[in-house]
Amino acid sequence: MMNVTEEELRPERLERFSGTYEIPKEKLERAIEMALKKLERSLSEWTDTFPGTSSVDYRYEHGANDNWECGMRTGTYWLAYELSGNPKFREVAEKQLETYRERFEKKIRVDDHDVGFVYTPSCVAAYKITGDKQVKELALAVADYYYSTGYTKEGGFILRGWSWQKQGGCRTMMDTLMNAPFLFWAGKESGKKEYMEAALSQSRTTEKLLIREDGSSFHHYQFEPETYRPLYGLTLQGYSNDSCWSRGHAWGVYGFPIAYSYTKEPFLKEIHRKITYYMLNHLPDDLIPYWDYTFTEGDQPRDSSAAVVNVCGLLEMCNYLSDDEPERAIYQNAAARMLEAVIDGCTGDIGREYDGLICHVTHACPQKRGVDECAVYGDYFYLEALLRMVKPEWNRYW
Ligand code: GLY
Repeated sequence: MMNVTEEELRPERLERFSGTYEIPKEKLERAIEMALKKLERSLSEWTDTFPGTSSVDYRYEHGANDNWECGMRTGTYWLAYELSGNPKFREVAEKQLETYRERFEKKIRVDDHDVGFVYTPSCVAAYKITGDKQVKELALAVADYYYSTGYTKEGGFILRGWSWQKQGGCRTMMDTLMNAPFLFWAGKESGKKEYMEAALSQSRTTEKLLIREDGSSFHHYQFEPETYRPLYGLTLQGYSNDSCWSRGHAWGVYGFPIAYSYTKEPFLKEIHRKITYYMLNHLPDDLIPYWDYTFTEGDQPRDSSAAVVNVCGLLEMCNYLSDDEPERAIYQNAAARMLEAVIDGCTGDIGREYDGLICHVTHACPQKRGVDECAVYGDYFYLEALLRMVKPEWNRYW
């Protein structure tokens, strides 16, 4: 059992989130209206092609359904459909589903830890919204492939892109916590307990090896390829091996509550509290995370996508906290303030046009990819956060 110490709580930082707070209704409605209008305006341009991982100079580039973030474009249309009831969004989302079938048949980047990001907001969402049995069968087939090729029972984790294994890169990572819900869903739908066990193992291994004593996280963790012996934590997209990459951490802020929703394992609530307090304590004054929690002030790039993923995770965990658990009020307050900060700071006029619903997303700072740009996953989680805020009973895709 982990304890969050006084030092980790740092009450003076958490004070920012005390009391009740709600985003004014008109502001929320206006933000939704603006997002939906923007999405509808470009719908025909983005029906047969998918934007690349990040914008380039604030413009999305046209590509095929072959990367980890594509599912979130289709998912954005499902969210827009649920928010508006506008059949145009549903038509495009349904049209795109065929590309997911083809992608699996041709095995286009499905040997990858991020397969849950591809198939959950697209195909699982489609099944949940429309009841389409064919798309459910497709998603279950992909999940089975994901489990049987990507999960290592000996190691108790889902591998980072399988091809890395062959090159000695035997690793797992924070991002996978947000892919594991795909296996939880498949386990629940199919009755196959092994999927559920694999998904839960990902949380256990992450809790044990990737979360540090102070509640921060390693981005990646390296194992010995032959034996799966745990070796050391390191980073790919973060500032340093010892730092805490903001979006990687956010995948935990959202991934652990989903694991909790399926399993009700008490350790998940504990670890979630620990990493959440770390995140809340390291937010800058304007509440838009820098790309790494090493930075709490200054002019480093921000990652607004981490903010909106955090909002979704906080709201999800609130579903499992009673009114007398003190975290509940803090999480609700923080979620509202963070989402409002994104509405105010990342959706308005920046003196030029941008294709995304939000700006100030940073994809991979060390690799100089998508720094202070737009990204499809930023758009998706922004819209999901808005939907969660106006419809707390929303049936999530994850
Ligand atoms: N691969 C997920 C991310 O960049 O956050």
